[in-house]
Amino acid sequence: MVEKTLAIIKPDAMQDGHKDAIIALIKSNGFDVVAQKTVTLTDDQAGGFYAEHKERSFFGELVKFMVSGPVTIMVLEKDNAIKGWRDLMGATNPAEAAEGTVRKQFGRSKGENATHGSDSVASAQREIAYFFPELA
Ligand code: RTP
Ligand code: MG
Repeated sequence: MVEKTLAIIKPDAMQDGHKDAIIALIKSNGFDVVAQKTVTLTDDQAGGFYAEHKERSFFGELVKFMVSGPVTIMVLEKDNAIKGWRDLMGATNPAEAAEGTVRKQFGRSKGENATHGSDSVASAQREIAYFFPELA
């Protein structure tokens, strides 16, 4: 089934100059980029986006990182896009991610791990509406 998912190139990968390489990898894996914008998030936007983690010990650090510089936010479309993008990103911790994945190639650490991907149909719907209300 054709699905949409939300992808974010996080501030570490933007600062390290990996934006174009990550988008090229996304396209070469058959995803269509149906929406794209580059913005610097506010504390409220980043905190609201990651609200599911607000009780976690790393939440403050995560928000601080996500507002530390521009991010590129995209809506990707493909058959099984949600799982497909999670698989292409690899494990949360780049040190544990498989060879060839985005996080293995471009992530710095478990916290600064290059990209975000929606983890379910419900998350994808919420996250796409959060950043691209015109697509919801
Ligand atoms: P994401 O939501 O960004 O796609 O990442 P994920 O599903 O692989 O991981 P999740 O558990 O949802 O965590 C969200 C983000 O929080 C940061 N994090 N830091 N220092 C830590 O132990 C830690 N754990 C998670 C990462 O940036 C992670 O992607
Ligand atoms: Mg997550």
